[in-house]
Amino acid sequence: MLTLAIDTSADETSVAITSGRRVLVSVVSSQITSHKIWGGINPGVARLAHQKRITPVVNRALKKLQGIKKDAVHGDQSSDTSAHYTTKDISAVAVTRGPGLSIALDVGITKARELAQEWQIPLIPVNHMAGHLFSPFVQNSHGHPDTEVPERFLSLLISGGHTQIVQCEKSKVKSQNDSSISIYEFTILGETMDDAAGEALDKAAKMLGLGYPGGPVIERLAKEMANRDFYRFPRPMIGLPTLDMSFSGLKTHLVYFLRGEKGIIVDPIAQLREIASSFQEAVFDAVIRKLDKAIAQTGITTLAVGGGVIANKRLRHLLRLLMKKHGGTVIFPPYKYLCGDNAAMIGVAAHLAGPMQTQVGDWMSEPRLSW
Ligand code: KG4
Ligand code: ZN
Repeated sequence: MLTLAIDTSADETSVAITSGRRVLVSVVSSQITSHKIWGGINPGVARLAHQKRITPVVNRALKKLQGIKKDAVHGDQSSDTSAHYTTKDISAVAVTRGPGLSIALDVGITKARELAQEWQIPLIPVNHMAGHLFSPFVQNSHGHPDTEVPERFLSLLISGGHTQIVQCEKSKVKSQNDSSISIYEFTILGETMDDAAGEALDKAAKMLGLGYPGGPVIERLAKEMANRDFYRFPRPMIGLPTLDMSFSGLKTHLVYFLRGEKGIIVDPIAQLREIASSFQEAVFDAVIRKLDKAIAQTGITTLAVGGGVIANKRLRHLLRLLMKKHGGTVIFPPYKYLCGDNAAMIGVAAHLAGPMQTQVGDWMSEPRLSW
């Protein structure tokens, strides 16, 4: 029972083939170099690139699948050990329905519909953020790592489009045919009111002339300064009891700071590393303090983290320290490709949250832009 999953929400054209939580095939075709010159994702360029790549990427994934022996994945010695997977083993198509760039999502959704129709199998719409949320529990084809998905956990979703603290809880509901099924219920406890954390890093990098995407280059510069906080940039909303966050004021502060209007004159070239390090600390400190409150409020000490920004080693370190303080655990995406956008997490989310996703309703008519 395999799922072919597609994600075209931003600047990666991605197709994966999954079996439960196991990833048999993952193909990610990045457009990042096409977007670098624009300093961000250009929607028209993204749509054309997805249209050009989607069929070749699906075909590459299917070809890889046909090269995999069934017993290599399941260790099932009773079956014909020479048997390879074929397209006929695929029993569902999962596709990101949003949030993301609607004209880019549309390319993936159209292709997914076509395949589901051709193969006469169900189509499962998946929320992109549910993909990031379950990305810490994605396994390789051998079932590693074998981390269980907890019944109750907190999730930090931190990417270029989102910064959310979500409470996830397994519960039983009645399905359409009246049988009882387990689903995860998501409650957003707090989220950014304006820019996402990754977006703030991208905008700061742009202001500092560092190009796109900003997160990785800021991380590198900050590391050269041992992640010290030289300028104590503001942490908006940090004193408020709410778990919501805000990063646009921090970005505006940086504009004035670079103009020398914050009582200190800096040379943005000579002090580039100090500025990058201080900015990164401000963003991460704001997130960590809100998470600290979320843990105190809910008493939940298992944290799973997903989204592009979690590739950042400084953030991982701060999260480990936070969970150590609470005597809890933090679970990261186990493989690097799972931090960025990828279809593997979409296939796994379809498996773990599928029944709930299909109850969401008329998603087919329009890609959904928020959840
Ligand atoms: O999840 P993702 O690939 O796309 C969205 O769904 O948004 O996240 C992209 C974001 C960008 O803002 C990028 O700057 C950030 O993730 N990012 C990082 C790092 N690598 C990517 N931020 C901080 N440190 C990194 N190493
Ligand atoms: Zn994403």
